[in-house]
Amino acid sequence: MVTCYRFGTPIETGAVVKKCIPEKELFPHKVEGETISFTFAVEEEDQVFGLGENVRGMNKRGWTYTNYAFDNPNHQEDTHSLYGAHNFFVLAGANYVGIFVDFPGEVTFDVGYTNRKELKVTVQGTDFDVYYIEAGSILKIVKEFRGLIGTSYIPPKWGFGLGQSRWSYPTEADVLEVARQYKECDFPLDSIYLDIDYMERYKDFTVSKDNFPDLKGLAERFAKEDLHLVPIIDAGVKIEKGYDVYEEGVEKGYFCKDADGKDFVTAVWPGRTHFLDVLNSEARAWFGDFYKRLLDLGIDGFWNDMNEPSIFYTERGLKSIMDAFDEIRGKENLDLDVWFAFLGKVGAVSHNPEDHKLFYHNMDGKLVRHDKVHNLFGTYMTKAAAEAFEKYEPDKRILMYSRSSYVGMHRYSGIWMGDNKSWWSHLLMNLQMLPGLNMVGILYTGADMGGFGSDTTEDLLMRWLAVSAFTPLMRNHSSKGTRFQEPYRFAEKDAIRGLIQARYKLIPYLYSEFVKCAKRDDMMFRPLCFDFPQDRIARNVEDQLFVGESIMIAPVYTQNATGRNVYLPEPMKLIRLGVNEDLVGVDLEVGWHYLEVPLTDILVFIRSGHLLPLGKAVDRVSKLSDEDIILLGQDGCSYEYYNDDGYTKEIDLEKSMKLLTKGR
Ligand code: GLC
Repeated sequence: MVTCYRFGTPIETGAVVKKCIPEKELFPHKVEGETISFTFAVEEEDQVFGLGENVRGMNKRGWTYTNYAFDNPNHQEDTHSLYGAHNFFVLAGANYVGIFVDFPGEVTFDVGYTNRKELKVTVQGTDFDVYYIEAGSILKIVKEFRGLIGTSYIPPKWGFGLGQSRWSYPTEADVLEVARQYKECDFPLDSIYLDIDYMERYKDFTVSKDNFPDLKGLAERFAKEDLHLVPIIDAGVKIEKGYDVYEEGVEKGYFCKDADGKDFVTAVWPGRTHFLDVLNSEARAWFGDFYKRLLDLGIDGFWNDMNEPSIFYTERGLKSIMDAFDEIRGKENLDLDVWFAFLGKVGAVSHNPEDHKLFYHNMDGKLVRHDKVHNLFGTYMTKAAAEAFEKYEPDKRILMYSRSSYVGMHRYSGIWMGDNKSWWSHLLMNLQMLPGLNMVGILYTGADMGGFGSDTTEDLLMRWLAVSAFTPLMRNHSSKGTRFQEPYRFAEKDAIRGLIQARYKLIPYLYSEFVKCAKRDDMMFRPLCFDFPQDRIARNVEDQLFVGESIMIAPVYTQNATGRNVYLPEPMKLIRLGVNEDLVGVDLEVGWHYLEVPLTDILVFIRSGHLLPLGKAVDRVSKLSDEDIILLGQDGCSYEYYNDDGYTKEIDLEKSMKLLTKGR
């Protein structure tokens, strides 16, 4: 049952598509100036799940999370804000309650940090909606919530293939070399990414003539081999005379304005930039049309970046640094206080929330200061693209994912989990973030495999491959200045090929489950206790997940481990994928099992009463064929299998599924 409450006069965020009539009476809350807070009592054994993209475990108790989109590539356990803001959680205790706070500014969830027995929600504003959902289980609450926020984006099927990325492959020759190396190693691959260097001086919708003299020709050549190019688009538009996106945007008044009504100046990759006023529908339609330039070159996939929006500096920030320098100029002896005060001023220039109070959106006639709607930027930038794709490619799915997001984003695109590091802890975080994102409908997601920042190692990449083999988005991406981490750079080529091929064999199942979850508002990645709420051990398992209806995964995420303990809440069949494939497998009973997991292996646990359809190893998604599918699991069981041409938008799930039954 959904009950909704309205505080003040909220801004329409677009998160909810199925509105309900607000109650007349509000629930108990506290108003302090411009802030409203409310609390929930939490018993010792209660659990809290959700909050989307955030650090820490699947059960969110014991920390405070500030949902205010923030660019933080160095996030760790003590981080409070990440790239997205998803204000939905489920409190699982004697009863189950789901809460969604529809507010596009900052909301803090103190989940027993200040007081272990209390969950306190603090909204930095007085105008918002709260949805209160009650049902008999976490999964039922999530389904009900997903019903409110609309159907999840479904990418083209090739978006399930491996993507190879790097900041950057700066020239056509570099891109061709990636394709060549993959082919030479016989590694499957579906896409190669273009990071900011493909552009002319980091200008959106331009292509560097020197680096990519014939991008259309390259895209065409790749298309013949079913290989896709996926360019990046950034939030900041370079201020430069003669650059049409800038000039037209200024002329039409489509950029965010400062308090004096002048186009607000900020700075990102290209130096001084303006931000598109993503909350203005005309500005969005105008910006969206520029994607057509790349569609016309044969591009059919994009990633939208820096859309928290990330700010390197503003004029205010730059001035504060200059002033700080002036203060210490000529001084040679800087003591603790002076030195750290100076460093603090320099460090505070980038991504400073104070800057968000300096610019405004014109929400179709209503002027709104950015900090009040900050969390919407990424979603609305991506909505601009999605609406353009609808217009220009009405019959074809385009690959799209964004860095920043708010609830509602899942209707337009996927997200990647932002900049991470080549850390084992981030591999675990990748796994633990999946359920929270699925709860808000974000199904198409994955992390930068191998880690974006810092240097990866061969074993980390292999273990990460074994996790990314299951995430709908599987992309190897790394930063400038870090060790190259394309799979072909490493020695264990046969083992690595086995891991990538395993992914491709899993795609028929993953794609089928993905579409089913999208269409039925279900979660693809579920903590064990979502399916087994009464199991006291399952409730504590934070490093295993059900993936779709048929399988469970239990990856290794610690260095030098040769195996791990795995908990089974029900009997399952363990099979191994990879170069030492074992599809006969072993039947395991309920309980704990210590299992050997060499770097070469991906363990898949097939649930009793379920089947896993497994495809053949192919080098492109387009080469997967239903003819090749084998069914693993118990004889006599059936599986509802969905497949399509990989592009169609018209999906009638119930009519198109085939019942596959394994003979005795
Ligand atoms: C941001 C993105 C990263 C990209 C880089 C350069 O850090 O998150 O993926 O490679 O910008 O464009």
